[in-house]
Amino acid sequence: MIVKTAKFLVSNNYYQNCPKPDKPEYAFIGRSNVGKSSLINKIVGIQGLAKTSGKPGKTQLINHFYINEEWYLVDLPGYGYASIPLKIKAKWETMISGYLQTRKNLLTTFVLIDVRHSPQKIDIDFIENLAEHQIPLALIFTKADKLTPRKLKENLKAYQNYLHESWDELPPVFVTSSETGLGAEQVLDYIENANKVFVSSPN
Ligand code: GTP
Ligand code: MG
Repeated sequence: MIVKTAKFLVSNNYYQNCPKPDKPEYAFIGRSNVGKSSLINKIVGIQGLAKTSGKPGKTQLINHFYINEEWYLVDLPGYGYASIPLKIKAKWETMISGYLQTRKNLLTTFVLIDVRHSPQKIDIDFIENLAEHQIPLALIFTKADKLTPRKLKENLKAYQNYLHESWDELPPVFVTSSETGLGAEQVLDYIENANKVFVSSPN
C-alpha cells in the first residue's frame, strides 16, 4: 500500500470519546520506549507526525491518525514504565484495556517488542491477556538496526521458540527498524489486506 495522506486526528484519554468506529483500525502498543511512535512515522513517511522521545513515557493518550482517508492508525501509551505515579499508571491501564476490549473496528493490535532483548514477562503477560480476550494481534519486533544480522536471527529464533512452548500457532510476525525502514512495507501490506476484509464484512 502506498500512503498518500496521513493526518493527526484527535487525542483522547477516554476511549469512549474515540472517533466513530466505522473505519478499519490498527493500534500500536508495547513497552514505553520500544519505538511505537517512531515506527508510525516511518510507516506513514512523515517524521514528527507522532511525537517521539528518547525518554520513556512520551505518548500519554489514545492518538488517532487517519491514513489515506480510509483507515485509522492508533498510537497508545507504553506499558511498563516504572517512573510514573501509581495513580497515573492505573489510569493508563484502564484507558488502554478499555480501548482494546471495546473498540469494535480494531482489526489488529500490533504488539511491539524490542528485538534486542530475551522474552520479558511483561510482554508475554500482555500478549496472553490479549489472546484471552480474543483480541486479534500481531507481533512487531523493533530496532532491528541495532543488531548484527546474525544476532538478529538468533534473537528472533529464541523468541519464537519461547512462544512455541505455549502457542501452537504464532501470530503474524514483523521485523522492523524505524532507522532503515525495514519491515514498513510488510506492515502496510498486511493492513491493506485486512482493510479488504473490513470492507466486505463491516458487521
Ligand atoms: P512511549 O511513547 O514513551 O511509550 O515510547 P515509544 O514506544 O513511542 O518510543 P519512541 O518512538 O518515542 O522511541 C523511543 C526511542 O527509541 C527514541 O529515541 C527513538 O529514536 C528510538 N528508536 C525507535 N525506533 C528505533 C529503531 O528502529 N532503531 C533505533 N536505532 N532507534 C529507534
Ligand atoms: Mg510513543
